[in-house]
Amino acid sequence: MKGIVLAGGAGTRLHPLTMSLSKQLLPVYDKPMVYYPLSLLMIAGIREILLISTPHDLPLFKRLLGDGAQFGISLSYAEQPRPEGLAQAFIIGADFCAGEPVALVLGDNILYGQGLTDTLQKAAQLETGGLVFAYYVRDPQRYGVLAFDENMNVVGIEEKPKRPQSNYVVPGLYFYDEQVVSMARSLKPGARGELEITDLNRLYLEQRQLRVEFLGRGIAWLDTGNIRSLMDANMYVQAVEERQGLKIACLEEIALRQRWIDMDDLRKTCEQMGDSGYAEYLRRLIDGEIIV
Ligand code: DAU
Repeated sequence: MKGIVLAGGAGTRLHPLTMSLSKQLLPVYDKPMVYYPLSLLMIAGIREILLISTPHDLPLFKRLLGDGAQFGISLSYAEQPRPEGLAQAFIIGADFCAGEPVALVLGDNILYGQGLTDTLQKAAQLETGGLVFAYYVRDPQRYGVLAFDENMNVVGIEEKPKRPQSNYVVPGLYFYDEQVVSMARSLKPGARGELEITDLNRLYLEQRQLRVEFLGRGIAWLDTGNIRSLMDANMYVQAVEERQGLKIACLEEIALRQRWIDMDDLRKTCEQMGDSGYAEYLRRLIDGEIIV
């Protein structure tokens, strides 16, 4: 399976100076936001990854992540000139997908918690249909919302409904079979003028090809859609990392655990990193203080 990280969209609405910057480049606590969604694909075992962003920011992502070799992955890049919808990722990435199943992760989604590795690795085995997750939230009207019948079978999915049919919403991590490119091409822009991922999921659902898996409340799904949720994400990562002394979404550590890189590769990365809490963590990995 291949993977796409969609990290474009409108600029951040934080401060005039950051308005033109894709927010996925901003840090969440001690590392760039894009590390978190990228880590999900890597944990799933996906090594061939396309990152899509704006023409303005793509060079910054390239400078940050390079060809991915330091993480044991192969990274390529593509432009999305305007934020014309999440499902457009599959049209932009049509050649990259090349008839293979593909996972899409939104560059501003953070998922963390017990059992997630297993869930992601199983999801990446998908060969037919689509797979999305269901997560219980207080404010479903901000997301793609699922509707269920009395047996908890999914019967509908709606984007940002005024009257949500349930509290279960779909996080920004999706797995599809090779039909996804042609399905995305068949979509028409929705009310927001965008090719909606929810319309794509509805197509799969109508063809009885959409699997929905519940993520338990032990999993944290954080979004960084506004200043407050960004702040919450920063504090969550800080609290967990300081308590455990282990990092969330350290891409080199994941690569090491996957055996995609070895200690020599890690030493080379470290030499170029200077001093930072992140580099210090990599040194602790090299010194065997963190048992991998
Ligand atoms: O976070 C999960 C939610 O993501 C889902 O529950 C919704 O069904 C889905 O539509 C999406 O909702 P959002 O309102 O969060 O989508 P938004 O337009 O904010 O875009 C999400 C991220 O993707 C954001 O970081 C910007 C980026 N993006 C967005 C669009 C529309 C792109 O890179 N390109 C785009 O064309």
